[in-house]
Amino acid sequence: MTDAFVEVRQLRCHFKNGNNLLSAVDGINLSIAPGEVLGLVGESGSGKSTLGRIIAGLQPRSAGQLLIDGEEMPNQYSRRQFRTMATNVQMVFQDSYASLNPRMTILASLQEPLWSLGIAGQAAKDKAAYWLDRVGLPPSAGERYPHELSGGQRQRIGIARAFIAEPKLVICDEPVSALDVSVQAQIINLLQELQREHNTAMLFIAHDLAVVRFLATRTAVMYLGEIVEIGPTDRVFESPRHPYTARLLAAHLDGNPRDRVLRVAAPTKTAVNRAPLATDSGCRFAPRCHIAEPACFNTPPWLQPSRVDTEAACHRIVYIEILKARGS
Ligand SMILES: Nc1ncnc2c1ncn2[C@@H]1O[C@H](COP(=O)(O)OP(=O)(O)OP(=O)(O)O)[C@@H](O)[C@H]1O
Ligand code: SF4
Ligand SMILES: [Mg+2]
Repeated sequence: MTDAFVEVRQLRCHFKNGNNLLSAVDGINLSIAPGEVLGLVGESGSGKSTLGRIIAGLQPRSAGQLLIDGEEMPNQYSRRQFRTMATNVQMVFQDSYASLNPRMTILASLQEPLWSLGIAGQAAKDKAAYWLDRVGLPPSAGERYPHELSGGQRQRIGIARAFIAEPKLVICDEPVSALDVSVQAQIINLLQELQREHNTAMLFIAHDLAVVRFLATRTAVMYLGEIVEIGPTDRVFESPRHPYTARLLAAHLDGNPRDRVLRVAAPTKTAVNRAPLATDSGCRFAPRCHIAEPACFNTPPWLQPSRVDTEAACHRIVYIEILKARGS
């Protein structure tokens, strides 16, 4: 895709796990268009944060390409590429406390991303003051230290720090899951407002599927390092094609009662909480899939277009679509 702001091709990231290699990200192809919000969901350990960190330039990859605004970024940046990344890609973390320097005042913390871009002095101070106000905090908060703020206030600062240099992409990794439920909605609304105001592309990683459905234009579903389904958010949520997506939705949202075809994919909480089992040669979901056939254990599936504008990596997509067309 030529108009993508971010593109990854055949991206892989392996970690050493004793004598074995663990594939946290295993051959992902993905693009994010300017101004687009891409939701990324999948159970714990599926590789969402690793993928986000690679795109943010915080985690080296083992193989594959990362293109930012059409430019291929190596694992080791040149000084100019470091600047490109710092200007264009920012991250909002789950733990806002860990991402702030405890010895810096909030106003200084807000200016920090600007200093690394050569913006200092009054210009940086003015911008910091603007963003303090823009994220809903009073001027007095600028003189405080991170431990003196509430979790919600600290996350507002985390968001201001991410947006202050006007990046083209903000990666949010579980930005509200550590917060009280009462403040989660305010923070989500703030993120949406800023995203729209600045037309910022966003990669939004979350376990809370309702939040992804609310924010994301497109949604990708990861399972054990791979994308198993991707497409417009409404389609993925209303007409899941991959058995894993259906199970994830059923476990979290109690599924779509009409979706009997995929609901028989054992939508039980115990099943979804079970540790993932992988097959080396075939579909990684096969050991948990109720419609697996012998080929599923031998040949890895690839993303194929469905009739609802999504893509799903499943050998039995035609079978699933026929059953759905019949209204099963
Ligand atoms: N630095 C690391 N060293 C070794 N293994 C790692 C490292 N980072 C991640 N992993 C492993 O890679 C896999 C994917 O981890 P990752 O954190 O990307 O998953 P996730 O989808 O973000 O999970 P969660 O929803 O729990 O945040 C996991 O098995 C994890 O243990
Ligand atoms: S490829 Fe086979 S095992 Fe994998 S999800 Fe599809 S039907 Fe199930
Ligand atoms: Mg994670």
